[in-house]
This record gives sequence, structure tokens and C-alpha cells, in this order.
Amino acid sequence: MTVQAPNRASSPLLDGPLSVAMREGSQLEHRAAETARFTTALLEGRVDESGYLDYLLRLRRIYGALETIGAQLAEDPLVTAVYDTALVRREALEADLGRWAELTGVELANVVEPSSPATDAYVERIAASTGWSGLYIAHHYTRYLGDLSGGQAIGRILAREFDLTAGEPGLAFYAFPQISKPKPYKDRYRARLDALELDSADKGRIVDEVKHTFGLNQALFEELDKTLHEHVRVPRG
Ligand code: HEM
Repeated sequence: MTVQAPNRASSPLLDGPLSVAMREGSQLEHRAAETARFTTALLEGRVDESGYLDYLLRLRRIYGALETIGAQLAEDPLVTAVYDTALVRREALEADLGRWAELTGVELANVVEPSSPATDAYVERIAASTGWSGLYIAHHYTRYLGDLSGGQAIGRILAREFDLTAGEPGLAFYAFPQISKPKPYKDRYRARLDALELDSADKGRIVDEVKHTFGLNQALFEELDKTLHEHVRVPRG
């Protein structure tokens, strides 16, 4: 009996809307990211100030790459569907880093950037997405739609646990002042993805990159998990 290898390009998911293929195609990976030990600790308020600072330092490099390349590709026929300066997180991250450094009792300028192979790999992958802009879309979707979804829950927990105010330095990363309601914004974002004229092979490449990107986030959480024991706090609950 011959067993046929699954043919990605002919999957029924890839015959439908791109946004559905991206969401459904990465469901398992999303579940893994949601339940990673570091994520769970963060959601339970068990990560202390220096642990969160370590996370932000990694995000600064990732969003630096995402947003530098996003600005370069902003006029690209595919990227133009998702690119929006209202999403840019760079300044918000800088403000938050300053506040969390202060909370750990150090000046941001004196904070030593941690060595992070997981961040290096993530940044390299974003840089490589210029090879075909569909790949960049996968990176854009995975971070920003995540920030507008589950990311909001993290912001609420940090506010409660560390007496921070929504939108102010410390929590600026979770605030999108130009996006009043995430839900309709995400719906419009998905509609723009679905209006792109892409064949199923192209959609397959994008879905694969989304899955790969979830894996890069997972590797980041696993790296942070290794030093989590140094950053434990008792949650207020
Ligand atoms: C903190 C743990 C997380 C929770 C509780 C969470 C929760 C959620 C929820 C409830 C949604 C659905 C929102 C909606 O219906 O519009 C969602 C969507 C999403 N999340 Fe997460 N998430 C988490 C972590 C992550 C991570 C780490 C990533 C990737 C870096 C991510 C990426 C996404 C993406 C791309 C979507 C959009 C799915 C779509 O509608 O196409 N999430 N998340």
C-alpha cells in the first residue's frame, strides 16, 4: 500500500479565507503558547519585576525588527493590507522598559541586555521574511493580533499585581490609543487579509510561517522559563 504524503497546497483549509487558515492552522501552537509555563506564571502574577523586564528586553529587539522591516515594506502590495502605524509598539516598549527598570531599582541605561539565542533566532527569521512579503504578514499577524487579544489579559493582571495604570508607562505596550475597540479592528484586519489575491500554495506558506512564528515565541517562553526560579513572586491574587 502506498501512503501519500499530505499535500499542503490541496488542504481544504487553504481553499478558504486566509484569516481562517491562519487561525485554524495554528490552533495547536496557540494553545501551547497560552499554556507555556512562563505565560502561566505571568498570568498568575508569579513573575517579579526583573523577570518581566527580561521579557520586555527581548520584545524590544523583536518589535525593533518587526517595525523596521514593516516600515520598509509598508508600500508592498501584500504588506499594505496589514501595516498600520497605530499598531507600532516601539515607543510603548521603551516607556515600559524605563518604568520596569525603575521598579527593579536600576536605570534603564545601566540594564545589561541579556544574551538570548531565542531572540536572535526570532529576529533573524523576521529579517529573512523580506525574501517574500507574505512571510512578513505571518509575523505581523502573530504578534499584533495576539497583542490585541490575549495580550490584553496580561496587561490587566500586571495592573492589578503591580499597581500600574492602564496606558501609562509600565503598561503602554498593552494600550493602543488609536484603536478604540480591538474586536472590530481585528475583524477589519482579517477582512483585509482575506481580500488578498493569493493561491493556496501562497496561503500554505503563510500558514506555515505563522506556525513557525508561534514556535519562536514558544522558544522564547522556554528560555525565560529556565531562569523563572530567580524571578518568582507571591501574587496578590
Ligand atoms: C497569555 C496567554 C494568551 C491568551 C490568554 C490568549 C488568548 C487569546 C484569545 C482569547 C484569542 C481570541 C480573541 C478573539 O476572538 O479575537 C486569541 C487570539 C490570538 N492570539 Fe492569543 N492568547 C495568548 C497568548 C498568545 C501568544 C503568546 C501569541 C503569539 C505570540 C498569541 C497570538 C494570538 C493570535 C495571532 C490571535 C488571533 C487569532 C485570530 O483570530 O486569527 N496569543 N488569543
